Amino acid sequence: MSLRFPASSGDAGLFIEKEGSGLNMRLRPVKNAAERIAGHPEVITTIDRNETKRLDAVFTGGRPLHLEIGAGKGRFAHTLASRRPDIDCIAVEKYDYAIVKALDKVLSAPLENLHLVRMDAEKITDCLDPSSIAVIHLNFSDPWPKARHEKRRLTHPRFLKRFKTLLEPGGTVEFKTDNRVFFEYSLLTLQHAGFMFEDVCLDLHHEDEADRDNIMTEFEEKYGKDGPVYKIRVRYEGEKT
Ligand SMILES: C[S@@+](CC[C@H](N)C(=O)[O-])C[C@H]1O[C@@H](n2cnc3c(N)ncnc32)[C@H](O)[C@@H]1O
Repeated sequence: MSLRFPASSGDAGLFIEKEGSGLNMRLRPVKNAAERIAGHPEVITTIDRNETKRLDAVFTGGRPLHLEIGAGKGRFAHTLASRRPDIDCIAVEKYDYAIVKALDKVLSAPLENLHLVRMDAEKITDCLDPSSIAVIHLNFSDPWPKARHEKRRLTHPRFLKRFKTLLEPGGTVEFKTDNRVFFEYSLLTLQHAGFMFEDVCLDLHHEDEADRDNIMTEFEEKYGKDGPVYKIRVRYEGEKT
């Protein structure tokens, strides 16, 4: 892997850096987020670092299961689940203060095919059965531009290995970003991991065909206007025997 990210300043974690714009967005803590989340176990599960909980029993109807990782405030997952009553959807987000906004959306417009999970995706294969996921969605994942944070990128090989475990044969990963370097990095890691490319889009918002069914995320709306949004869709065929 020979790509290098541009040097950047500022800490990661609570800061989300926007390449090129010079903007750092700090997410503010939300009052009582943890208490509000704890009050709705039917809608949202919390899994702390030292815990293991299974999510297999959340949906038992046998419909194709979509998994969004890094769901933020939840607009994508909520819109997807409301547009697609034929699927079930699990939306995973690491931070209370983001996913509590997704909880608000579900409480004001309930959806029986959407479940939220506040957890770090590091533990995702401890929660779900192998070969149980039809589609994994990665929307505007944090690019983690510093080399020493590379392992945190959701398209790092160690995450892709977990995704291959979770995906059913023929399952797909759909990835959107406005960060060109992260996009190129992800093209390489996905290819090295043995995924088959179904679609690579260099300017999602200006390709009629690609844009038609696009679900605009919160980040996409805020930052995706300054330049192209890139999209990758890859398929995993399963291990060759
Ligand atoms: C840049 S935001 C994008 C949010 C949303 N997908 C959107 O497009 O509006 C990335 C989100 O991914 C979450 N995230 C990053 N790494 C994660 C991980 N390992 N597990 C769960 N969530 C993660 C962050 O907390 C953040 O809310």
